[in-house]
Amino acid sequence: MKALTLDDFDLRGKTIYLRVDMNSPMDPRTMEISSTRRIEEVAPTLDDMRESKVVLASHQGRVGNSDYTGMDQHAATLERVLGRPVKYVEDVIGSAARDAIRGMQNGDILLLDNLRLCAEENYEFSTADAANTIMVRRLAGLFDLCVLDSFPSAHRAHPSIVGFPQSIPACVGRMAEREVRNLDEIVTVAKAPHVVVLGGAKVPDRIESIRMLIHNGRADSILLTGIIGNVFMRAQRRIRYPLGIRNEDEIVGTAHDLLGEYPDVFFTPVDVAVESNGERLELDVRNLNSGDLIYDIGAKTVDHYSRIIASAGTAFISGPAGYFEKEGYEVGTRRLLEAVAGSMATTIVSGGHLTSALKRYGLDTHINHISTAGGALVRYLAGVKLPMIRALEDAAARRAGPQVPPA
Ligand code: 3PG
Repeated sequence: MKALTLDDFDLRGKTIYLRVDMNSPMDPRTMEISSTRRIEEVAPTLDDMRESKVVLASHQGRVGNSDYTGMDQHAATLERVLGRPVKYVEDVIGSAARDAIRGMQNGDILLLDNLRLCAEENYEFSTADAANTIMVRRLAGLFDLCVLDSFPSAHRAHPSIVGFPQSIPACVGRMAEREVRNLDEIVTVAKAPHVVVLGGAKVPDRIESIRMLIHNGRADSILLTGIIGNVFMRAQRRIRYPLGIRNEDEIVGTAHDLLGEYPDVFFTPVDVAVESNGERLELDVRNLNSGDLIYDIGAKTVDHYSRIIASAGTAFISGPAGYFEKEGYEVGTRRLLEAVAGSMATTIVSGGHLTSALKRYGLDTHINHISTAGGALVRYLAGVKLPMIRALEDAAARRAGPQVPPA
């Protein structure tokens, strides 16, 4: 990545816009943050900004989803993590936010409310249009520097990410800088066969990246679990009832095409766990009944996948194998993580859920690279130039000015 870093700027006395990704898993029963890891990751970058006025900006969840909340818990958690006061304003671009920014002193940290309260932040923009959003026009003039440190959302061309770097100087934060450096080192030494274990719920994100992962030699075998596994089983007609996910027909159609194009790459579960009379019940996929809710993969699938992982040169796992927060249904996720941790492969674990699960099972010291990023990491490994990285590189090129050809 050819981006400027914090070392290229004198940060003292500056008002800094710091885009972080504190989007955290929320316990649906209590609406409390269930893993604070992404909030903790903000600390190293803030350490370099002790003599600046730092305005933190992040999203949390998506409009319409149960994890869509304000940022008050994040402010309180960050304050605890840092042991320093963190002010919080329930506003993003209005006069309350702008007045709070103008009133800051050196050493202050202010967290804005959920960026997605601002309608524009829910859309992808071309770079030029992002700079012309009301968000960027209202806020950019208040900042001396834009620092992008939100690697987990680096794949989103949102104004908070690609808009500001066009209006004010911009550089990468410590977390994203370290993440990209580590990933680049790993990618250089990564050996075949590349085994990718894909699960989780963000199916459109994953499905878009699969073709590129295969094309760019990053996926020799793809072991599917979670909702994406169910989608592929629907495409294989092994699940014969609707799953009830958004744009299901289209997504199942894409899965069907991929299975036809790459028949030897994909593996889907042979058995799954459903709930029967409040108990975990493992079933052969052929014996599923219409409407059965699949909460985990079964033991035969775990054994099969674990054998494939054991033969990997590089093992990349992203997304849980099922509803692992629910008691009794964490088995598949835990055992696949154990297989990855116990393998001789170069190992990468991706996403907020799996990073907290790794820690819970005491496996985190056995992994080469652990990242709270999910979709962004899958795309990065697939070889996609992420919008955040492009924005940072463009900003660095603009600052370097036009290159004068030698006389
Ligand atoms: C993530 O958790 O993958 C990032 O925070 C991006 O969130 P999003 O998928 O809701 O854009």
